[in-house]
Amino acid sequence: MQHLIDTDDLTDVQIEAILNDAARFKRRRPPALLRDKLLITLFFEPSTRTRSSFEVAAKRLGAAVVHLDPSRSSTKKGESLEDTFANLCAMEPDGVIVRHSRNETPRELAAMKMVPVINAGAGNYAHPSQALLDLFTMKEYFGDLRGKKIAIVGDIVNSRVASSGIRLFTRMGMEVKLVAPEPFMPQSDLPKYEHLEAVLDDVDVVMSLRAQLERHSKPIFDDYGAYAKHYCIDKARLGARDILLLHPGPVMRNIDISDEMLSDPRCKVLEQVRNGVFVRMAILKLLLLDS
Ligand code: NCD
Repeated sequence: MQHLIDTDDLTDVQIEAILNDAARFKRRRPPALLRDKLLITLFFEPSTRTRSSFEVAAKRLGAAVVHLDPSRSSTKKGESLEDTFANLCAMEPDGVIVRHSRNETPRELAAMKMVPVINAGAGNYAHPSQALLDLFTMKEYFGDLRGKKIAIVGDIVNSRVASSGIRLFTRMGMEVKLVAPEPFMPQSDLPKYEHLEAVLDDVDVVMSLRAQLERHSKPIFDDYGAYAKHYCIDKARLGARDILLLHPGPVMRNIDISDEMLSDPRCKVLEQVRNGVFVRMAILKLLLLDS
């Protein structure tokens, strides 16, 4: 039984297969490969893109999807997460897609060995489908990613997108630079910078990240306007540089990225969302059909 808790669970061959399948699906919509399959989405944290992207991907491949809203489920009546999961598995779905604020939850559910588990975001630890769609988006633009340089900017320490991205991009031979004020900087052997200006002349990609306010036990900055003065990706800062701009969403306009840069052709935020569906189709195919 193959799970996807982080991209470390995938071999190089499987990653290659996901990227190739996603590219193929993007060129031409595939037949209903998952016609007889049923997936359950179980999201304990809010989501706009990831949940709808998995649902659209599943439906495009002909699978049925059932969503359980935990805020209206028996978890609210005191049922444990493991019991809720076991009860859903008793209905014999072909996979469960789960998002949770705890880093360990998807792996613990996978260890129950009941059904393939797909992690759609766990705490600040991992968000593998996002890392794969970011990889796909960069590969589509550059071709070979070996030696390409990416600056990850913002609340890196609290970001599961950064955490999975760093593991996957370095594995693929990219150079990762971390740009953040001290409270947002993780422990890491990667090169660290406090100022964006120090890296902009030496990167191919900038990935901007939202401050993960829901993970801060107390406010880190009182004034995100002051933070934006240093870290907002705007035209004045980027100039005419040929840099690909990514963001996993949700974007805090004019704090993470300026209005103007969001409509600049270098900004691939909506292309990431478009690619996310194809990448998640490829992930579902790998886990439900090819494994
Ligand atoms: C992110 C998440 O939930 O980890 N969004 C996403 O899935 N595209 C990032 C965030 O919430 O800032």
